[in-house]
Amino acid sequence: MASDTLPSPPDGGKGLLHLLVRQIRFEAAGINSYELVDPAGAALPAFDAGAHIDVYMEGGLVRQYSLSNAPHERHRYVIAVLRDEAGRGGSKALHGGLHVQDVVPVSPPRNHFALDAHAKKVILLAGGIGITPLKAMAHRLEEQGGDYELHYCAKDRAHAAFGGEFAEQERRGRLHFHFDGGVPSAGLDIARLLSDPAPGTHLYYCGPGGFMKACAGAAAHWPAGTVHSEHFKAPEPAVSFNPTNEETDALHAIDGFSVEIASTGQAIAVGPYQSIADALEEAGVAIETSCRAGLCGTCKVRYLSGTVEHQDCILSDEEKTQFLTTCVSRATSKVLVLDL
Ligand code: FES
Repeated sequence: MASDTLPSPPDGGKGLLHLLVRQIRFEAAGINSYELVDPAGAALPAFDAGAHIDVYMEGGLVRQYSLSNAPHERHRYVIAVLRDEAGRGGSKALHGGLHVQDVVPVSPPRNHFALDAHAKKVILLAGGIGITPLKAMAHRLEEQGGDYELHYCAKDRAHAAFGGEFAEQERRGRLHFHFDGGVPSAGLDIARLLSDPAPGTHLYYCGPGGFMKACAGAAAHWPAGTVHSEHFKAPEPAVSFNPTNEETDALHAIDGFSVEIASTGQAIAVGPYQSIADALEEAGVAIETSCRAGLCGTCKVRYLSGTVEHQDCILSDEEKTQFLTTCVSRATSKVLVLDL
C-alpha cells in the first residue's frame, strides 16, 4: 500500500488522521506491530488505555485495532496485528500491503474498554493477540503505581508478542505467562484464578472466542460493574443479516419491526434480516458505521422507548438502558423510538 496509491476514503466528517508507517516489527509468530506517526512529527490526539483506532485499507476495508503503547506517548500509535488466514481479510491486507513509509488513514482513538479509576486492584487477562489493549493498560497502571497483575496466555514464548518489553514486569511478578503448547486445557486454570475476587478488584479480558467464553463463565459471579471485556471478533450473531437459505428457514420466526425518528416522527420499517443501520440508510437517515459487527461503537444511538435485543460486544449493562448499536441490535417490541 504505497502512499501515492492509497485510496482517499470518504472522510464524512470523521476527521481522519493520515499517519506515516514509521516502523513494522516482528513481534511473535504471525504477529507484526505497526508504529504510526504524524508525517510532520506533530503530537497525535491523546488516548487512554483500552482505546482503538479504525484503520482504512485498500478496497474499502476498515478494521479496528487496539493501541498497545503507553498512553502517555503522544508521538506515536502502536498496533499489533495477527495474520488470520481464516479472517475477513483485514489482517492479511495489513501484513501483505502495508509498508514502512506508507501513509495510512486512521480514525482518532475511541475507547469502549477504559480502566475504572476506582478499582483497588486490576486483573488483566490476555489470550494471544488480545494482549494489545491490556498491554496499554499495564503501561497505564505502571505509571499510576496501580495494583495489578497481568496474565498472558499463549501457545509458547514464540507466539507471545511484546515478550521482551515485559521482562521487567515478569521479573517483578506483575506479569505471568501461561503457555499451553496449543492445548487450552493445559494452560491457565481461569476458573481457579477468578474464583474468589477481592473487594474492589476489576477484571479486564480480551482474546479469542473460547478464551472469552471461559473468562465470562469463570467471572459470572463477580459483582456487577467489575468485569470488562473486549472482543476482537464478533461472536456468532443471533440474527444473520445475510442469511443463507438454511438460516432463513431456521430464522423464519423472526419478525421485522419499525423504528421511529423522534425529531421528525418518521417511521422506518426494519426487515427481519435487515440491520437498523441499513434500514435507516435506505430511508436517507445517515448513521455512521465502521465494524458493522457490534465491536466498535461507531453506530451507537440513544433510544427513548421500546425494548432492545442487544447483540453488541461493547455496551455496558448501564449503557444498554439508554443506547443501542444500530448495526447489530434489534427490537423485540413493535416500535423502537430513536433519539435522532
Ligand atoms: S458499526 Fe461498530 S458497533 Fe456498529
